[in-house]
Amino acid sequence: MRAFLLLGGIFANKGQSGKSRNGQNFLAIQQDIGDLVRIILPVTEPDVTTAPKPNHIPDLTIVVPCFNERENVRPLVDLLDKALAGLAWEVVFVDDDSPDGTAKEVRAVGRERFNVRVVHRIGRRGLAGACIEGILSSVAPVVAVMDADLQHDETKLADMFALFAADPALDLVIGSRNVEDGSVGTGLSAFRKWGSDLATSMARRALKITATDPMSGFFMVRRESFNTVVLSLQQQGFKILADMLSASKGSWKMREVGYTFRERQHGESKMDSAVTVEFLSLLAVRMTGGLVSIRFILFMLVGLSGLVVHLGVLRGMLGLVPDQFALAQTVAVIVAMTSNFVANNMLTYKDRALKGRAFFRGLLSFYGVCSVGAVANIGVATAVFAVLPYWAFAGFCGAFIGALWNFVASALVTWKS
Ligand code: GDD
Ligand code: MN
Repeated sequence: MRAFLLLGGIFANKGQSGKSRNGQNFLAIQQDIGDLVRIILPVTEPDVTTAPKPNHIPDLTIVVPCFNERENVRPLVDLLDKALAGLAWEVVFVDDDSPDGTAKEVRAVGRERFNVRVVHRIGRRGLAGACIEGILSSVAPVVAVMDADLQHDETKLADMFALFAADPALDLVIGSRNVEDGSVGTGLSAFRKWGSDLATSMARRALKITATDPMSGFFMVRRESFNTVVLSLQQQGFKILADMLSASKGSWKMREVGYTFRERQHGESKMDSAVTVEFLSLLAVRMTGGLVSIRFILFMLVGLSGLVVHLGVLRGMLGLVPDQFALAQTVAVIVAMTSNFVANNMLTYKDRALKGRAFFRGLLSFYGVCSVGAVANIGVATAVFAVLPYWAFAGFCGAFIGALWNFVASALVTWKS
């Protein structure tokens, strides 16, 4: 009976195959014929142990965030190839549309090898977000993150992976520069080393982290464990490991493997002062229990800087035109709004900074948003003052609501994604 049905199926398919001999039909026919043969003739199954693997499912994915790292792609893949011989691994480069053509280079290498992929993100920037997307793109049970610039020691990856194989309860292995066998080598300048040490001790204290190198960009995590924290991770910023450690609230079983941080060979570091401010904001986010985002904190910090600018300009203007307070105040408002826009565009919205014509369009919309915010500010402050006549409290309430409005409205209008 089954054979007849299958035969019917075959002929039905055959009838259409002139027009639609697509892969799917063809596969269905092949399978039907295989079933038929098996029903009619008792053939032995192929020996599965000697049959080639049908695909290349990786046991380990290496996620490599990269920006302007074209010259490092091929050398890194070659090093991984040597270091991971015998393992089923793949590498996923996550590139934010680097102007130097990094993604194109990865695709070129990917045409020569089955285990090299690229996640090419357009209109976005950010190290932590790139790591998160790379990890999420993998089907492997264990995922590593490392820099593209050859500063991390790929020869440690196999040892790190072996720890997972040996211990099913292990959640995380950190490549650490601060344990035995680890060092910063010549990879960091004295000033960066000092900053990195300071950040490490701050993170350890503020976030109650016990790891010796929470600033490391080199680690390996079990995919299942990562899934339990991913929803609370900050996309913005550089320090995804510190964020993960904090999100796991000390519940993760962790090991550390020492490595020596190497010097960068090609290209340059993307670490800048914005990274430091982002890191401090990350601490604040975690200390408020994730109530606010890094973006919100940056926006409020920029707002405070705007207050300083405002008072400075007001004072300067009153020196120039002592009897025209309204004029001086107006100029101060415009200058402060403009400086807030520029600072937010550079810092708060660094990942989608407006450029060219969009910059000026954004500036105009920001003026509009802030004007409404100012009306809300005055309205709220006046209303509060009517009930509770404490000028500082009423003033603060007005300013806070105005700033909140500016944050939400500018996110929706000025820097909409
Ligand atoms: N996709 C993407 N998007 N990748 C980025 C971005 C970005 O916006 N910014 C940086 N990267 C990539 C770089 O191309 C590099 O592969 C990696 O992230 C680290 O950036 P570097 O610019 O090389 O950082 P670093 O060497 O100064 O800092 C490293 O060491 C620190 C410890 O001192 C990183 O590993 C940090 O995470 C680590 O904290
Ligand atoms: Mn680096």
